[in-house]
Amino acid sequence: MSYVKIEGGTKLEGELSLQGSKNGVLPILAACILCKGRVILKNCPDISDVRDILYTLSFAGVTSTFKEGCLDLDTTDAFPYRFGPELACKTRGGVLLLGACWGRFHEAGMAYPGGCVIGARPIDLHCRVFRQLGATLSEKPEGVFLCGCPEGGRVVLPYPSVGATENAVLAAVCAKGNTVIYGAAREPEVAELCRFLNRAGAKICGIGTSRIGIEGVRGLRGTEYTVSGDRIVAGTYLAAAAVTGGEVCLCGTRHVCMKGIAEYFGRMGNRIYREADRIVINAPKRLKAVPGIVTAPYPAFPTDMQSLTVAMLATAEGDSCVEETVFESRFGVVPELQRMGADIQRNGQSVYIRGMERLQGTTVTAMDLRSGAALVLAGLAAEGETCVDGYEYIARGYEDICGTMRRLGAKTVLAEEK
Ligand code: EPZ
Repeated sequence: MSYVKIEGGTKLEGELSLQGSKNGVLPILAACILCKGRVILKNCPDISDVRDILYTLSFAGVTSTFKEGCLDLDTTDAFPYRFGPELACKTRGGVLLLGACWGRFHEAGMAYPGGCVIGARPIDLHCRVFRQLGATLSEKPEGVFLCGCPEGGRVVLPYPSVGATENAVLAAVCAKGNTVIYGAAREPEVAELCRFLNRAGAKICGIGTSRIGIEGVRGLRGTEYTVSGDRIVAGTYLAAAAVTGGEVCLCGTRHVCMKGIAEYFGRMGNRIYREADRIVINAPKRLKAVPGIVTAPYPAFPTDMQSLTVAMLATAEGDSCVEETVFESRFGVVPELQRMGADIQRNGQSVYIRGMERLQGTTVTAMDLRSGAALVLAGLAAEGETCVDGYEYIARGYEDICGTMRRLGAKTVLAEEK
């Protein structure tokens, strides 16, 4: 298995182009099933979650070619397919194929996507919205199965689930009649999906709000779309500069929404400024602690930045507190940071962090995508050598994190387990 080897203590400086958004492109790949014909996606990130979804789509007759960030899909000959557990569990984004396939074929089936280390991740809200749109839905041990024609109507979400909102939109755009989704998630990735669908002929309004209106159309056409930059990957490289006292410029950030993220970098003592298509960070010698960070649905501080922020605060000056309110077990990074000498106490859904001057390099293990990236950050700031096992988790969402960090001056290599 591959692991990331890091020699800590180097300031990160320089410029990098931001990759396309993983959580933006995954729902769009599902939406392609609704577009009969060819779809060209530019700035598509070359990450394993995307490769996994393309592999899954191939079982439903979707063909694709992927070269230098440009994805060319053809769904002309797509057909209904029941995705088994080996496909459903590959990536959480796969659950969105249910809404898209039901919307196009009026039938869909998939094994349960299952939970992961950050939580049980049930799909009860997804099933709720399908039923509210008229699905005959059966939940069996082998998975979830939908049939019947989607009928526009009133969808009410008791919690602004990103995936359930996206599945509701995917199921409603070609439904008979009109739909209003109340309590919709407002994450930028949901808005990106709606913009893509409108480019393909959908009629969606209220984009980016918690009340989304959809006028059902007969079908969608192929189109061309450029995926926005990834706001969490942007936060990751800004954090890499922040923990090493460096100065980094991110390019390709014109449409990247940093709401709920940038202000926390400021509170830690970083200077961040945006120009048209760039974000620049100038970090202090040592970060300042921030008490009272709470993750919550957009526009609050995003849960996907939580592990990365805990890693930043582990070497900040003073005491910080971070509370996780979205996922029930998303502190997998804490025991690994403690092995590097971090002073972190967990109490339920909160962690209390006393910043250390320095962490000590050692071998640590990524438990999920974001905790893996957080451990790389910790290695950059640590004394000595850090090895982060579980590179396959990091590769799910980051294009070549080692090469990118190296181009910013970090001493990072991707090594193979002996
Ligand atoms: C999306 O997951 C993202 N994944 C996650 O990013 C992100 O952390 C999450 O939204 C929150 O912003 C993708 O977009 C592919 P939710 P999703 O439905 O849609 C509970 C990353 O690192 N819930 O908003 O699965 C759920 O268990 C990943 O890039 C139910 O109880 O998130 C969780 O506690 C991690 N029942 C909370 O809601 C349901 O039917 C938020 O989940 C659905 C969700």
